[in-house]
Amino acid sequence: MCGIFGITGTVTDAADNVFVGLKNLEYRGYDSWGVALRSHEGIEITKQVGKISDGELATSLAHEAVGHSRWATHGGVTLENSHPHRVGNVVVVHNGIFENYLEYKTKLEDTIEFKSETDSEVIAALIYLELQKGVSPEEALTTAVQNIEGRFAILVMFDDTPGIWAVRRGSPLILGRGDEQTFIASDIPAFLEKTNVVNYLDDNQMAYLYNTDVDFWDLHTGEKITKRNIEVEWDFESADKGEHPHFMIKEILEQKETIARAINQERDQVDEFIKALKKAGGIYIIGCGTAHKAAMATEYFFAQIAGKKVNVVAASEMDAFKTFVRANTAIVCISQSGETADIMEVVEYAESVDATVLSITNVASSSLARASKVALPVKVGPEKAVASTKATTGQMTIGFLLAHAYADTFNKGLGILLGAAANINDMINPRYEEHIESVAQEFKDNENLFIIGRGSLYPMALEAAIKIQEVSYIHAQGFAAGELKHGPIALIEKGTPCIVLGDDQETISNAIELKSRGAVIIGISTGEHEVFDHWLRVPDAEMAQPLVSVIPIQILAYHFALLRGHDPDMPRNLAKSVTVK
Ligand code: G6P
Repeated sequence: MCGIFGITGTVTDAADNVFVGLKNLEYRGYDSWGVALRSHEGIEITKQVGKISDGELATSLAHEAVGHSRWATHGGVTLENSHPHRVGNVVVVHNGIFENYLEYKTKLEDTIEFKSETDSEVIAALIYLELQKGVSPEEALTTAVQNIEGRFAILVMFDDTPGIWAVRRGSPLILGRGDEQTFIASDIPAFLEKTNVVNYLDDNQMAYLYNTDVDFWDLHTGEKITKRNIEVEWDFESADKGEHPHFMIKEILEQKETIARAINQERDQVDEFIKALKKAGGIYIIGCGTAHKAAMATEYFFAQIAGKKVNVVAASEMDAFKTFVRANTAIVCISQSGETADIMEVVEYAESVDATVLSITNVASSSLARASKVALPVKVGPEKAVASTKATTGQMTIGFLLAHAYADTFNKGLGILLGAAANINDMINPRYEEHIESVAQEFKDNENLFIIGRGSLYPMALEAAIKIQEVSYIHAQGFAAGELKHGPIALIEKGTPCIVLGDDQETISNAIELKSRGAVIIGISTGEHEVFDHWLRVPDAEMAQPLVSVIPIQILAYHFALLRGHDPDMPRNLAKSVTVK
């Protein structure tokens, strides 16, 4: 979490560009923001609580600047806790967690007058104290970061040395190479408008940016290293809201095309992926949040289409299963960002035991993709809204395709998906959205909502709950349709809205049980049924039904958020890319 961004160059709009580019990293955290720029008088810091998109930065000429958009971890949302942090002549912006910071903070409290509750300020203090020993900035940084346990990325400026220093261990940092400026950011959209030529900083590497020059070091050996310039494919246009009021609805509507884009995989890459799966003694599919629900859907696809049992585990729960991960294990990681800390920890463990890492990720240049033996790109373009929509259906598309490839029925799978893509294109239209909005209007004041689904629609019931919770703050819960009568049905009262995914006989029986206890039923299915009080029709997508059934729920969640007066793109307490554990 947190977005960091720095610029050095030969022109003087570094601070303005940091301010503008940082807005494209706001999805990483939007509790507060701050910018530090180098002027003739020294390093000047501006900070504000709140979203950077609501903030203002007075124009100042500067060749160098760093900025930060915060998702609070250590310490509340206050100006003091906002970045950049200064200790003496050292200014730091930080993404990640300094897990053992208290040990150092306690030790240093007599020497340093700490102004914030953050772990980040302690990093600035450690660098400052090293510098006091008369060593160079790179020596001070190298020694100071050795004390940090945890995953992090930092950008550092010194009052008396021009340039920006960057260190990465675990959290992403990417350099952008422009003609007049060099950029370094947590993610490419910060500078994509300026350049698409990048260098990736790997773990335990340090960079020094000055004007348009960059030096790189390996922190372990202390040796200088060279980096290859890589051209990334994203165009800036697709990271923009365009004519839409929010990214969330833009991304929902883009599913008219994105499924077809996700289908379009390189066949030899798919074959290599399948070869690795077939060779493996055991397969784990991991993910977090919504991607974990896409992993669960993929588990059903493999069972129902390929007759293959795979193990699906939330990445944060993999610790208990680590003993089963060996050299012949395949770990399939599903992640929109390809940077989620819980996943990257599993990847690092998998690498340490020589297990095979495979991935399905939307960011082809991410740490996860780069660590994978085969990385299948989801290809849906940048997803900016915190609530994942088009990436989820893209991930499930690939999961479905893989299950068919595993079963040697690739072309059949392709045909089903192409049919689903065409039907989704027809389904999403203004009248459909208006109908869903009217349903949202009826239930917007309910504080509880339940969703049930069976088979591969069960993971979609869980996903539906996440979608509704995160943007509308309604207490939504998903259940396996048959599980309801084993406890949760006690929660049903007269008027409780229940979404029923599917119209198979058993699920309909469950819907009838709910209705006879007073529930109001919203059916999402291919066929209408008299038990439904409201019906949201979805096209028949055969085994790929989860892909289409989740879309009306995304639209419903979006309208719940609007009707309840919330910003669907930036829900409270959340961030899109979770790079802390
Ligand atoms: C956060 C986001 C979720 C996302 C999850 C996993 O919690 O808010 O929308 O599903 O992280 O992110 P990833 O980038 O790994 O898919």
